[in-house]
Amino acid sequence: MSNAPIGIFDSGVGGLTVAREVRAQLPHESIVYIGDTEHTPYGPRPIAEIRKFSLEILDQLVDEGVKMLVIACNSASAAVLRDARERYSVPVIEVIAPAVRAAVSATRSGRVGVIGTHATISSRAYNDAFAAAVNVQLFSQACPAFVEHVEAGDTTSQELIAIAREYLAPLQREEIDTLVLGCTHYPLLQGVLGYVMGGDVRLVSSDVETAKDVYRTLLTRGLLHDGTTNATYEYRATGENTAAFVTLASRILGGEVSRVEHHPTGVIDLAGHTLKENS
Ligand code: DGL
Repeated sequence: MSNAPIGIFDSGVGGLTVAREVRAQLPHESIVYIGDTEHTPYGPRPIAEIRKFSLEILDQLVDEGVKMLVIACNSASAAVLRDARERYSVPVIEVIAPAVRAAVSATRSGRVGVIGTHATISSRAYNDAFAAAVNVQLFSQACPAFVEHVEAGDTTSQELIAIAREYLAPLQREEIDTLVLGCTHYPLLQGVLGYVMGGDVRLVSSDVETAKDVYRTLLTRGLLHDGTTNATYEYRATGENTAAFVTLASRILGGEVSRVEHHPTGVIDLAGHTLKENS
């Protein structure tokens, strides 16, 4: 079991920011990644629908024999985490608690902002996760347009800067000193977010911290890869249009990701494109 792959899942490309960190910190671990591009964005959808799509994909990953699940999506974590931990015998890692931990240690003033999708912000999952941090005052803001820009490959345009100014103005008025990027797509917007918020505001994302959780959990459960075989990486997009996914995956993972294969449909009705890295 310890040499089985880790299953990582997101609504699209955002979770690749987490996969990238897992690869960097844990070079022996193999990864099967599924981006549910057929249903992206999750953020505007009702929680029950996000829950259904998420469980279908997580079931598929478990059926394929992964040794751990990483829900690399805040919206899905908010919708499904408790169910997932009861449903599966493999460990389930998510992205909200790691981001909160990083923010609590980053803030000096205790005035923290969180941005995310409608689903994440309205679930109040971050309010719950920060509840134990009595010195933190949390200010939340949904930023629904961001994910579509990222999925379309736009992380720099003037239009995006204008949207960011509008979303972030209320958080600037609250004089936050730390901003939690409560969506795994947002690390790709750090240029724009840093530009609009200014240099004094720390941007905190969950990718590095989540990968630390993956390591800690594999270690304590005796599930670390024994290093005897090379890691393999498989990235799948459920939607028909894989071109944008390929381009963005290459950007995020920092290499040439170019071969796209059809993958037979599994237990669920995934369009099931498999995208493998050139080695
Ligand atoms: N990247 C995801 C998240 O962290 C989902 C974004 C979306 O599909 O709306 O929330």
